[in-house]
Amino acid sequence: MDGKPLDNDLSGVVAADKAHVWHHLVQHKPFEEGEPRIIVEGKGMRVWDQNGKEYIDAVSGAVWTVNVGYGRDRIADAVHAQLKKMCYFAQAAGSVPGALFAEKLIEKMPGMSRVYYTNSGSEANEKAFKMVRQIAHKKYGGKKTKILYRDRDYHGSTLAAMSAGGQDERNMQYGPFAPDFVRVPHCMEYRKDELGLGHLSGREFGIAAANQIEEVILKEGPDTIGALCLEPVTAGGGVITPPEGYWERVQEICKQYDILLHIDEVVCGVGRTGGEWFGYQHYGIKPDFVTMAKGVASGYAAIACMVTTEEVFEMFKSNPSDKLDHFRDISTFGGCTGGPAAALENMAIIEEEGLLENCAAMGARMMGNLTALMEKHAVIGDVRGKGLFLGCELVKDRDSKEPVDEKDVMAVVGDCGAQGVIIGSSNRSVPGRNNVLCFSPALIATEKDIDAITDAVDKALTRVFG
Ligand SMILES: Cc1ncc(COP(=O)(O)O)c(C=O)c1O
Repeated sequence: MDGKPLDNDLSGVVAADKAHVWHHLVQHKPFEEGEPRIIVEGKGMRVWDQNGKEYIDAVSGAVWTVNVGYGRDRIADAVHAQLKKMCYFAQAAGSVPGALFAEKLIEKMPGMSRVYYTNSGSEANEKAFKMVRQIAHKKYGGKKTKILYRDRDYHGSTLAAMSAGGQDERNMQYGPFAPDFVRVPHCMEYRKDELGLGHLSGREFGIAAANQIEEVILKEGPDTIGALCLEPVTAGGGVITPPEGYWERVQEICKQYDILLHIDEVVCGVGRTGGEWFGYQHYGIKPDFVTMAKGVASGYAAIACMVTTEEVFEMFKSNPSDKLDHFRDISTFGGCTGGPAAALENMAIIEEEGLLENCAAMGARMMGNLTALMEKHAVIGDVRGKGLFLGCELVKDRDSKEPVDEKDVMAVVGDCGAQGVIIGSSNRSVPGRNNVLCFSPALIATEKDIDAITDAVDKALTRVFG
């Protein structure tokens, strides 16, 4: 096995963690008795915990992030060299890697032209929301301030991003939220009955689902709506791939009502969906804003950005004599140079190793394996995904589609963990719908890795559901 042997005496680290670290997402009561998992080392697709236990990481750092795998010397070396030379200066000035990565990124995004660096994916989305609000004031006399977001989508953990959050369980107890965020229905064909569209399928369903966005626009008044913010493929809300015909119609609607299209690529961005750099590029979408974070530098250094068109950019420099005219915003750590230095190497690795192609091929294999498991496990109601971004929806009964209990979903995740495979699941997301197993292995996954992951899922499903 690759990787160095671990120093197993990490009891001091575990004690320090238990005493002082407040972990993300999790309830801490169980840690009073047990231990939190501490990931100590990673190489390729594998990670090791504080006890030296080895895992295949089928979720790229748990949240779709480490796209090129762990232990990449060339990224670490590039960041090291950059930090020694120049670590930080606020983005009111430029930086060498910031300029070079922006150029490289824009090469991959025809139609887009400007990169705004931020601290996180949530904040990248907030930048777009702020721009939409400012455009409403600059161009529409204070109208068109509303931002549409979709049921089951997620755009971040800050309060404005949560105001655009379509996952009610995640939002519970954190309100009240910001005004002028308006929800549109989801587009999930498997749950089309919820939308009143049970009689339609394929393209007809996709167009009808998009038309439900138009209904909201007409109800609210098109002159009040500035933007529509969507994930190209919904991630934490259940891995929802768009139906045929959906995006074409969404684009038409945006054009017809002069609504800016904001695509949240925080999960899909930089190769995750296979074959293309970004999720939206599979669907012929021409966005006005694209936000990204997680996979941009595979987690080797923090980087997030909001990318927009020259047309939007132009709106923010039309009247230099007006001191309010430009985008008056800053993200302190948007000026860190380690992020773009890592992102340049990350992109070079994806290109040189053909990882967009590998992601498409391994995604197809994983989709095939998971679909084959449906024969054996009636509990799998639906398998969805694009590239190495997949989900398996678990139901008690395929006809009623009643979701399995969350504790059983967690038992499958736990069983895979015990087998040495880290998988994920939708959790604390949509009330009563936290029943989707999530998979997002690194883009470097081999056939052997994919088969090992799906074999573990097979065994876990047998043990939990019989
Ligand atoms: C689709 C999507 N958008 C935005 C975010 C927020 O990104 P961050 O956690 O970097 O703020 C996430 C995080 O999971 C996400 O999945």
